[in-house]
Amino acid sequence: EKQGFRHFMLKEIYEQPNVIRTCLDAYLNPHWHPQDNSEVSPINLGLSEAMLGNVENVQILACGTSWHSSLLGKYLIEQLAGIPTMVQYASEFRYAPSPITPNTLSIGVTQSGETADTLAALETEKQRRIALDSKYRPRILGVTNRPESTLAHMVDEIINTQAGIEIGVAATKSFTAQVMGFYLLALELAYRRQSLSLEQIETIINGLRHLPRQMELVLEKQEPIIEELAHEFNDTQDFIFLGRGVNFPIALEGALKLKEISYIHAEGYPAGEMKHGPIALLDAKVPVVAIAMPGIVYDKVISNAQEAKARDARLIGVTVIDDLDASHTFNDILTVPRVDEILSPMLAVIPLQLLAYHIAARRGLDVDQPRNLAKSVTVE
Ligand code: M6R
Repeated sequence: EKQGFRHFMLKEIYEQPNVIRTCLDAYLNPHWHPQDNSEVSPINLGLSEAMLGNVENVQILACGTSWHSSLLGKYLIEQLAGIPTMVQYASEFRYAPSPITPNTLSIGVTQSGETADTLAALETEKQRRIALDSKYRPRILGVTNRPESTLAHMVDEIINTQAGIEIGVAATKSFTAQVMGFYLLALELAYRRQSLSLEQIETIINGLRHLPRQMELVLEKQEPIIEELAHEFNDTQDFIFLGRGVNFPIALEGALKLKEISYIHAEGYPAGEMKHGPIALLDAKVPVVAIAMPGIVYDKVISNAQEAKARDARLIGVTVIDDLDASHTFNDILTVPRVDEILSPMLAVIPLQLLAYHIAARRGLDVDQPRNLAKSVTVE
């Protein structure tokens, strides 16, 4: 059932374009047009007014890769819908829950819907809301890939991320599907609050519709290059991943993928934080992967990457095809098509998944079942 792929992880990386197509088909209203003037939302997540009306702030609870997609969710909800959002590790939340108001939307994000820490955090949240007042209900939303899971029965409503069964322990297609869920949720909230014009919403939706084909191009063009590049890191023990703004969570995700399956120590940082400490780690033995997508933080990321280069680090850039600045800055370039910055994480993450995969596969490791890890962590 690996359909010719060497590992489930690689198969699942390749399934991403179709997963995104499935989400778009399921959740975009095909008849919507900004000139319609109708009261119909462009997004069709099937969530109630009681859940999404008058949201004052959002708190998101998750672990691991789901925590990374939640960080992206925060970026999108704040920047597109203008709603203050915080993200907490589920394991931290339980013993120090942040204060809420009746109009706080709480979101639990878990691929499996069975992660003990996330379920415990949501139970804490549920009990707290019951103890407070009925005004505080129903405002608990689940984002999960398993609509039959424990999480789904616990929360008031869910977004089903529709990625299909994921077997590789390293989350790949379930991550991009969760991020897709956050684009749609942020757009739905932006539509309700009119924080974006209908034309702005249409532009982002059109961009989303192009993503599956663009993801296919990244897979086709980059996989052979990355497989080759993976040969260069036989003795590497540490990696640094840098990203900023909307791509900061992608730096964290790239580092987590690498450490989880290759057992190489890797850290993700917001690129601007490098000079506040981590830069002391750099030398010729520590490769630095920088995500440099055109947009508001682009120049800053390039200059942060140059600071790393001045410390002899080997610099790998994830950037767009026609980028001249990048070709002067980076030793190796992994390219993706040029898209609006806000959509760029969906493309930038793919070379990082492939890099982690090929480094681990080259080391002969058990990519689908890394040591010490389980697909769903059902103990707290
Ligand atoms: O099923 P969940 O999304 O709740 O799982 C959370 C984490 O255990 C999970 O994302 C883990 O970090 C992955 N192995 C990452 O690839």
